[in-house]
Amino acid sequence: MIRFDILTLFPEMFASVLGESILKRAVQAGLIEVRLFDFRDWAEGRHRQVDDVPYGGGDGMVLKPEPLFAAIRAVRAEGPESPVTLLTPQGRRLDQALVQELAARPRLILVCGRYAGVDERVRRHLVDEELSIGDYVLSGGELPALVVIEAVARLLPGVLGNQDSAAADSFPRRLEAPQYTRPLEFEGHAVPEVLVSGHHEAIRRWRKKESLRRTLERRPDLLEKYPPEGEEAALLEELAGEPGRG
Ligand SMILES: C[S@@+](CC[C@H](N)C(=O)[O-])C[C@H]1O[C@@H](n2cnc3c(N)ncnc32)[C@H](O)[C@@H]1O
Repeated sequence: MIRFDILTLFPEMFASVLGESILKRAVQAGLIEVRLFDFRDWAEGRHRQVDDVPYGGGDGMVLKPEPLFAAIRAVRAEGPESPVTLLTPQGRRLDQALVQELAARPRLILVCGRYAGVDERVRRHLVDEELSIGDYVLSGGELPALVVIEAVARLLPGVLGNQDSAAADSFPRRLEAPQYTRPLEFEGHAVPEVLVSGHHEAIRRWRKKESLRRTLERRPDLLEKYPPEGEEAALLEELAGEPGRG
C-alpha cells in the first residue's frame, strides 16, 4: 500500500482519473491511498493569495513560498517520513527504473506547481527531489502527478488483475513484442501463424525475438544500456542474419 499526498491548487482535477478503472479499484481495495491538499488553505489574508509577480520583472506569476512551506510542513508531519517531490520540467526525467524506485516507498509527497512555477526557495530549502515527466512544458503539475500515480500503482501487487501483464510491458529493458487479438484475419491482414500454433515454446521464442527486433529498430540505446546475453544474444545474431540486415 502506498500513500500519495498531493499538494495542488486544483484538487478536483484528480477525481475523474482516480474514479475510473484500475486506479478506482486500487483505491477501493486499499492498495493505494490518494490524499489531496489544496495549499491555498494555508495561504493567509483575505484573498488567500498564493502567487505574486516575479522579482526582476517578467511574465507570469510565481507561487509564493509561505503557503507552500506551511502546507508541505503540515502534510509531511502526518505519517511516515518521506521525501518531498516537486513536479517540474527541470527535474529528473521519469522512466520505468525511477517508477520502480518510487513504487518501493510507503509514501510519496507530490507538489504540483502552476503558473510560472514556484519560488526558488521552495525548491532549495524544502523540496528533496524534482521530477519531470518529459521534455515539454505543461500548465501545471497535476497531470504529471497523475502520471506518477498511475505508473507506480501498476507495479503494486494486486493492482493489475494479472501481474504478468506488468512484467511483460515495455521498459525498462526491452520494448514489448507486437500483440494481436481476434479476428484471425482483418481486411486481409492475418495474425502471425506461430501465435495460433498452440506451441508454447515457439510462441515464447517468437515474442522474445520480436521484442528484440522492436527494441533494435526503435530504441537501440536500450540494447547498449542492457546488453543482450545468452538466448537474447543468439536471437540478435539471427536478426542480423536476416535478409536486408547486417
Ligand atoms: C508552466 S509550468 C512552469 C515552468 C517553469 N517556468 C520552467 O520553465 O521550469 C507550471 C508547472 O507545471 C508543472 N510542469 C510543467 N511541465 C512539467 C513536466 N514536464 N514535468 C513535471 N511537471 C511539469 C510544474 O509543476 C510547473 O511548476
